[in-house]
Amino acid sequence: MNNSFNYHIKTAHTFESVRRPHYLDWSNYPSPFKFYKGVERFSLLPFKGSIGETLDVLYGLCGEGAEDNLSLQELSDLAFAMNGVSRKKVFHGEEFLFRTTPSAGALYPFELYFFVKDIPPLPDGLYHYQPFNHTLELLWKKDLWELLQTALCAEIPGNVVAVVTAIYARSAWKYGTRAYRYCLLDAGHMVSNGVTFLRSLGLGGNAVYRFLDGKLNRLLGIDGENEFALVALLVDKPALHWGEEFLVTFNFPASEPVVSRPIYDREIVNTHLCANLNSCEFYRDYPSSETVFPEVGSLPLKDAILKRKSRRNFTGKRLGFNRFKHLVESSLECFPADWGFPKTSFYLQVRNVEGVKDGIYTVKEGELRPVMEGDFSGEVAYLCLSQAFIAMANVNVIFTYDFAGKENREYRGALLEAGALGELLYLSAESMGLGACGVGAFYDFDLKKFLSLSEFEFPIYVVSVGIVD
Ligand SMILES: Cc1cc2nc3c(=O)[nH]c(=O)nc-3n(C[C@H](O)[C@H](O)[C@H](O)COP(=O)(O)O)c2cc1C
Repeated sequence: MNNSFNYHIKTAHTFESVRRPHYLDWSNYPSPFKFYKGVERFSLLPFKGSIGETLDVLYGLCGEGAEDNLSLQELSDLAFAMNGVSRKKVFHGEEFLFRTTPSAGALYPFELYFFVKDIPPLPDGLYHYQPFNHTLELLWKKDLWELLQTALCAEIPGNVVAVVTAIYARSAWKYGTRAYRYCLLDAGHMVSNGVTFLRSLGLGGNAVYRFLDGKLNRLLGIDGENEFALVALLVDKPALHWGEEFLVTFNFPASEPVVSRPIYDREIVNTHLCANLNSCEFYRDYPSSETVFPEVGSLPLKDAILKRKSRRNFTGKRLGFNRFKHLVESSLECFPADWGFPKTSFYLQVRNVEGVKDGIYTVKEGELRPVMEGDFSGEVAYLCLSQAFIAMANVNVIFTYDFAGKENREYRGALLEAGALGELLYLSAESMGLGACGVGAFYDFDLKKFLSLSEFEFPIYVVSVGIVD
């Protein structure tokens, strides 16, 4: 089996492993923001969002979209939808800033960059999005389009490309080596909000995870080890592009360290590096599907993005069949990306849903297929490290990935996809007045056994959804 499989096995939680003493070094708590020094900053416009209803947008995610340039308002909204600060809370006298996307442990290991051209008054170049004050920090003033096309192996449509990176140390501070999984899941959530926002503008937003890692990291001014690119977002499906060799020499502005004492995890770095690509010899496989117009009203997408938060106050009350059906159909049927949807499978553990017997289901060709009948809410909550709220959810979606016959790179795609679909579940739930919460903590082997998964198939993520107070 390959490195990604070995990594996954090594980072599995067991009953014993989660009970070993675990010490959090609060004196090295990571900063959730990356601050560049001495850069020119451009204020973005306040989030306006588009008028589309959430379910309309989600049902049309893999339909045809247009290719067009973004305005300054649209770029501002895209940045905010992906990584804006949407809520503030005070803990022990200190203000804590929550984002539009969820993140395991609220550690926000991701960063967001934009390559921009033709959006006055912004000079063409590379920018870092600073969520702390909703600004763009100009890192490199230059037309980088040709170099970017080479790095992405892609003909780039439109005038904006977003790239999500991870600084894994933030998450590893708490989760150790398992953090790499969370970086990918978190990045999937983030790119999903970006795709969804672009789709709400009628554009063909697509996530791209196949690119030349070394070149893209160099173009972003990051080292590819402590911080690395995970996924890019384009305004439409790109055609393959073979660029010229290039050498990037540029003095990028310095940034403040995010931890006061370095956190380095060899296992994470090796797992990541062994899946890097250095040639454009690959095939991009984009899913497509018809746009369906659901006959049901839902919140405007902008409100779902603004209101989204992890909700754990499930009541266990009965969920009507229509909301259940729209939840599943709008969130789990397609995602526009180049990793070859579907990379993951999922199981639904259902409890107290009108017209559906309690049990575990898969979905095949639009139909629920029963796997086991009965109320398994207690078992699933126990298997997710006894997090009690999970037992009160109406639906627990358990994403799985089969490592058999897969390349290392595809593991990234699987976790990105699980995160991306997880975000669609959050948005869909929020838009119908339900609550959702991502769950990254579970006993890997026991959950696998419970679902009778095949030899190399493992759970990778769980998302709970249900009626909330
Ligand atoms: C990959 C991932 C794993 C998570 N795992 C858990 C979990 O096991 N238990 C839990 O209560 N919340 C979990 N969460 C939710 C985070 O705690 C939450 O997103 C974070 O505190 C930020 O809060 P917000 O989502 O309300 O903005 C997870 C979120 C993500 C994205």
